[in-house]
Amino acid sequence: MPQVKQKRFDEMKTLPNVFEWSDYNSSNPFPSGTWSSKIFKNDNPIVLELACGKGEYSRGLAELYPDKNFIGVDIKGNRMWVGAKDALDRGLENVRYLRAYIDHLDQFFIQDEVDEIWILFPDPYINKERKRLTSPKFLELYRKVVKKGTVINLKTDSDLLYEYTKEVISNEGLKLLKDIPDVHKKHKDHPELSIITYYEKIHLANGKTSKFLSFRL
Ligand SMILES: C[S@@+](CC[C@H](N)C(=O)[O-])C[C@H]1O[C@@H](n2cnc3c(N)ncnc32)[C@H](O)[C@@H]1O
Repeated sequence: MPQVKQKRFDEMKTLPNVFEWSDYNSSNPFPSGTWSSKIFKNDNPIVLELACGKGEYSRGLAELYPDKNFIGVDIKGNRMWVGAKDALDRGLENVRYLRAYIDHLDQFFIQDEVDEIWILFPDPYINKERKRLTSPKFLELYRKVVKKGTVINLKTDSDLLYEYTKEVISNEGLKLLKDIPDVHKKHKDHPELSIITYYEKIHLANGKTSKFLSFRL
């Protein structure tokens, strides 16, 4: 492993705002159900950012909404290190990072623990529908940890994922709340949509448009 990557991996173990799934096992179970009482020490809503990459969106939301708690989830520790360090440097108390597979979300949160979900520029997985984070399989998983009627927000550059997600929303009879085909033409009333992630920056530079969907589970 390159030296910089190894250094980040080692440092992740010491960052107080990072939780790594690999540190827990049957004799040291993950403290699911205690994010409010033991970690954030308040009753503010808990918002997840799935596939958070470098974690800049969770950090940005945490600055915009100090009365909410944010948790960025991703499996790539090298990327997550960037956001976790930045959040610490800025002294943000309302954001944490969880290095884990999203596929195991129900091991890290209990039913009704999560109030909202954001997913930014996830891989569209052109040939692997089941891996898409808005597939029926993942929505079923989210239902195990969210409150009834939780809002899911998706921002994507992918026409395939955008159309696919609208199809899932319709097939499952879910309520579509917002559908913005080009966020950067019209986002003035959504300050959170102006936070630009690492992947969004790349897509915009390549002339792609950012699309936004928000729906109720
Ligand atoms: C294209 S990147 C987007 C990162 C970030 N949201 C952004 O906009 O810059 C997709 C991220 O999803 C993560 N990811 C994809 N599937 C995952 C899964 N099942 N569990 C955990 N992380 C996953 C990858 O590790 C990667 O960091």
